[in-house]
Amino acid sequence: MELVFATNNKHKIREISDLLDGNFRILGLADLGITEDIPEEAETLEENAVFKARYVHEKTGLSVFADDTGLEVTALGGAPGVYSARYAGESKSFDDNIEKLLREMQNATDRSARFRTVIALILDGSEYLFEGTVEGEIIRERRGVGGFGYDPVFIATGSDRTFAEIPLSEKNLISHRAKAMRKLIEFLSRDNPLSAGK
Ligand code: IMP
Repeated sequence: MELVFATNNKHKIREISDLLDGNFRILGLADLGITEDIPEEAETLEENAVFKARYVHEKTGLSVFADDTGLEVTALGGAPGVYSARYAGESKSFDDNIEKLLREMQNATDRSARFRTVIALILDGSEYLFEGTVEGEIIRERRGVGGFGYDPVFIATGSDRTFAEIPLSEKNLISHRAKAMRKLIEFLSRDNPLSAGK
């Protein structure tokens, strides 16, 4: 069956296509000729993911899922959270966002934080939510050159290297997004009404 991933991020599409079996074909927004940016203006990850999934479903009538991720820092009351992509401002870079995070946390002794991904799925007229989290801490200086976003300052609990210092294959074993994706895949492969009896 065909399923739309409401994203233009080719890396994310490849990642999930690799994990699914041959019963599903994943289409990105580009495959459907949807080129506009879907607004992400809600105040929670859940609402943003649901909004994106509904937007594409209403446009295409196809089954669709969408994701939204945030970094939730305890000492900052859960910020930057849903605003993680534009923490330092609308047109700012990953580097600017890290700069602001380290500044805001300068005096914080509680360094705990977590990444949280929410996936909203619309399948056969019903809506479903899946969540993946990884707990960890924010260090005081950047380390590593891999990954993206806040990876250079995030160390997962139980590790001694930042997400920017470990290979992607290792990050994919424990990351928030990979966990949420695996829950979605498990559901699609086993639990959903369309695959019942398979
Ligand atoms: P998105 O919802 O996947 O676009 O993620 C929103 C923002 O969260 C990104 O722009 C990054 O700043 C941050 N983010 C999401 N996933 C990761 C990750 O795996 N590592 C570091 N930062 C991330």
